[in-house]
Amino acid sequence: MSGTEEAPPGVDVSVPSAARLYDYYLGGELNYPADRAAGEEVVRKVPEIRDVAWSNRGFLQRAVRWVAEQGVRQFVDIGAGLPTQNNTHQVARAVRPDARVVYVDHDPIVQVHANALLAGDEQTAVVLRDLRDAEAVLDDPATRRLIDFSEPVAMMLVAVTHFLSDEEDPWGLVARYLRRLVPGSHLILSAGTQDFQPEWRVRAVQEIYARSSTGVHTRTREQIERYFDGLEIVPPYEGAKAEVTYVGFWGAEDAEEADSDGSRWSYCAVARVP
Ligand SMILES: C[S@@+](CC[C@H](N)C(=O)[O-])C[C@H]1O[C@@H](n2cnc3c(N)ncnc32)[C@H](O)[C@@H]1O
Repeated sequence: MSGTEEAPPGVDVSVPSAARLYDYYLGGELNYPADRAAGEEVVRKVPEIRDVAWSNRGFLQRAVRWVAEQGVRQFVDIGAGLPTQNNTHQVARAVRPDARVVYVDHDPIVQVHANALLAGDEQTAVVLRDLRDAEAVLDDPATRRLIDFSEPVAMMLVAVTHFLSDEEDPWGLVARYLRRLVPGSHLILSAGTQDFQPEWRVRAVQEIYARSSTGVHTRTREQIERYFDGLEIVPPYEGAKAEVTYVGFWGAEDAEEADSDGSRWSYCAVARVP
């Protein structure tokens, strides 16, 4: 959007949004001056922020590919973000050409751009909803049309639960999404953490996001592990223990090389519904 700066109808570009900030970190062009100003502030406090975003995106892509290789062909990508390179449907279809994907986001700008990208694609849909209403997301006509809950589903909450406060009970919310899933389904989840950061940096990021459309709530490893209660976490890479890990390590061919400062801002896991 650097060219025209003209906002799609219904989109308020005067307040930075999580979707457009993330697009900015990824080097996208679907952001506006307010997003870029806030994004630059984040860059000053967290110079590795682009690596934070790309490490997380790499996890999403490797995890989707792996889950598709397990035979799963239905994906519900919650807090999907603006379209970027190798979106969920593209990664999944490289393995399973019959993959069906529902993208969910509450930011109308995501719907505008995702609909443009997906025009004519009957096997994907974009649902404009707040993820906090799990039942409305799962019962949306588009979800019902594309997702058969009697078959395994990959439920994806990648880099999104940290936009919910403890009071909003993100753990209970994830459980509500999982309730409908049959054995063989998977949860793909990553979330921001403060564990590896000095307190001042986390506070600085929180202050910048407090001025955006959504605050940010990083969590400890233990808190993020709780999302996977009752599930079977899969080993993040060959020879590794089955546990929550930093995003860079997941699916890594060489764990040492995969480590980076950016990766250590987010924990993740892929887990199977038993
Ligand atoms: C950091 S982006 C992550 C995008 C993608 N999942 C990824 O990891 O590459 C977070 C996305 O979650 C969306 N989001 C935040 N809070 C939400 C809510 N309450 N309901 C639906 N979407 C939400 C934002 O609009 C944004 O597009």
